[in-house]
Amino acid sequence: MSNALFDLSSRVAIVTGSSRGLGQYMARALAIAGADLVLTSRDRTRLLPFETEIKALGRRAVSLELDVRQRESIDKMTAAAEAVFGHVDILVNNAGSNVRKPALEVTWEDWNLVLDTNLRGSFFVSQAVARGMIARRYGRIINIGSVTSVAGYAGLAAYGASRGGIRQLTMSLADDWGQYGVTVNCLAPGWFQTEQNKVLYENTEWVEYLCDRIPLKRTGQPRDLDGAVVFLAAESSRYVTGQTLLVDGGISTGATRALPGAGRASGKPSAEPR
Ligand SMILES: NC(=O)c1ccc[n+]([C@@H]2O[C@H](COP(=O)([O-])OP(=O)(O)OC[C@H]3O[C@@H](n4cnc5c(N)ncnc54)[C@H](OP(=O)(O)O)[C@@H]3O)[C@@H](O)[C@H]2O)c1
Repeated sequence: MSNALFDLSSRVAIVTGSSRGLGQYMARALAIAGADLVLTSRDRTRLLPFETEIKALGRRAVSLELDVRQRESIDKMTAAAEAVFGHVDILVNNAGSNVRKPALEVTWEDWNLVLDTNLRGSFFVSQAVARGMIARRYGRIINIGSVTSVAGYAGLAAYGASRGGIRQLTMSLADDWGQYGVTVNCLAPGWFQTEQNKVLYENTEWVEYLCDRIPLKRTGQPRDLDGAVVFLAAESSRYVTGQTLLVDGGISTGATRALPGAGRASGKPSAEPR
């Protein structure tokens, strides 16, 4: 097996929402594999230190403003990326937002914020960038999903709807654009600690409860996504499209674990270790 399978030299990647968190880690992994980068944020000044870091790796990088809730902003970013690099090979639809609330408390505005950012935004950025990919008969689109793409979680109604939608969108676009050499896959992280959810991880009791339900017994470290994002961006995944790759320590195998002893005739809890 040759390293060319994972080599992204001369490839250009857009990573939306690369001002912090998982987007920044995935952008770094793509750059280390050889890609030049288009970094985006609603405020490009937030990107400048990271742009310097990417350039220090010997890659080209440009920081562009993008608000995925604004159609004009999407078109402007896409045109600017193509003007700087001439083409775009890889798109990572990472920009996202979340509102954690019991379903009865979710407002109209909460719903719109989450769905507009995560689902509508990913679709219209894909559409804008895919025009150039289709013309060149090559592209790799990676939509960021979540473990909520495949499982339901209380307090995450709007978020789960957006991530379930991302999984379906991935399959539809894969079917639409496969004929033009564009693959579309969904990379679905499990529970990772970032800016978006740091308050959750201050609750040690909850973290312990969560880790007990993860087969690999820990939450995700952002670097756990490196291999998957490079695989989906590179030649290595050339015959993979429409798929959802969960990088979740296995939690999607059974988010709600049966109690020990459940299902026994006596119904009494078991003293056996889990
Ligand atoms: N952390 C996890 O455990 C986890 C698990 C599964 C999936 N995810 C998803 O993975 C992605 C990254 O997560 P994260 O934890 O790194 O989140 P984060 O720290 O909150 O970062 C979110 C990124 O999205 C950008 N963004 C937000 N709204 C935007 C908008 N309207 N237009 C353009 N960019 C926007 C932000 O950029 P600016 O604010 O600079 O514009 C920021 O760079 C998100 O889509 C998240 O839902 C996260």
